[in-house]
Amino acid sequence: MSERDAIEELSDLFVFLADNDFAGYSPLYEQIARAVATDQVLLEFIASAANPNARRGRIPILFFAATHDRVLANPESPLAAIYRGESQADPMPLLRDLLERDSAEVRNNMRTRSVQTNEVGRSAILSVAFGRAQRDVSARPVLFEIGPSAGLNLYLEHFHIDFTRTGNLVVASGPDNATVRLACELRGPITPPFPTEVFAPISRRGLDPNPIDVMNDSECRWLQACLWPGIPDRPERLAAAINVARLSPPHLLAGDAITDLSSALAPFAAEDHLLVFSTWVLAYIGANGRNAVVETIDRLGAKRDLDFITFEEPRFTPWVTDFDPSVFGQYEGEGTPTLLGLRSWRGGNCTTTALAVAHPHGRWIHWLEENHG
Ligand SMILES: C[S@@+](CC[C@H](N)C(=O)[O-])C[C@H]1O[C@@H](n2cnc3c(N)ncnc32)[C@H](O)[C@@H]1O
Repeated sequence: MSERDAIEELSDLFVFLADNDFAGYSPLYEQIARAVATDQVLLEFIASAANPNARRGRIPILFFAATHDRVLANPESPLAAIYRGESQADPMPLLRDLLERDSAEVRNNMRTRSVQTNEVGRSAILSVAFGRAQRDVSARPVLFEIGPSAGLNLYLEHFHIDFTRTGNLVVASGPDNATVRLACELRGPITPPFPTEVFAPISRRGLDPNPIDVMNDSECRWLQACLWPGIPDRPERLAAAINVARLSPPHLLAGDAITDLSSALAPFAAEDHLLVFSTWVLAYIGANGRNAVVETIDRLGAKRDLDFITFEEPRFTPWVTDFDPSVFGQYEGEGTPTLLGLRSWRGGNCTTTALAVAHPHGRWIHWLEENHG
């Protein structure tokens, strides 16, 4: 691809994000994305700063995080006030200044870091999926997350979740006095099968090329940098979830799901119920990698019972097929609708079920599986 085509493609990606992901959700990022899309100088800076091996589709979000990290490093700056929603000034002149002043740091972030948003809102979706996966199982679960970032979603039973329909509370789960509080709206005609038992995993483990240590403040700042500004309570919720994890940090291995998943899953005792899950990870590992992951799961599943839960864009879980794609059309412009899939191995037999479509950050869920009782 010529340099000109690459810049044009980058510009289109910023417009796509503004239209589909930021509009109605993060107005500041929508404004910045639209401005960047028409600014040749900024586009050239971003293209040159990106790691040549980075997936092109992921470059804009990495740019936002790399820049936000510098904003967080200077909390007294006028740009930081705009990011916190305390000022309505035009961010673009200040952003251009920051990129000139901190260009080395932004470049370094873009070269060495990856998007590691650890979105605890996804715990609302996972809590229902885990209950559904365990409905025919009496053994206690062991949790294993592929691509956990800091592993905050491994603590989901410590979070309070309100499920509502048209503004009315339908089900509340988790401790009433929890410091992490989530809200998830029920959409579509089917009420999900809410778990009736308290979820009590025996262990919490994960595998990530770049596991984030919740005890390390500068790594936690990168988690904050990956958040989009302008979404009320999100930074506070992340900080509260980090504090929950700090009480008993998860066991996260450094490694690649494509090559290291099999050995990472080997130590689990057959009598425990193995719940493996991935949320917004498979987009990062390519088609061959995704096939390798599901093959590893299937090889193990043929030998022991397990569940593999995925919360990913549907194109990244081609083994989850039993859903009507038109349901995704209903949610255009509301974030990237994300498919909740369940692949269960029981007694050497495999079944795969499309459970739900949901907001990528767990703000709403549209349950799909009928006759789930
Ligand atoms: C967008 S973050 C999502 C984090 C977390 N799953 C969540 O939903 O909050 C993607 C994560 O996938 C991890 N990742 C990327 N490639 C991976 C691979 N080959 N194997 C395992 N994890 C990977 C990244 O390091 C990052 O932590």
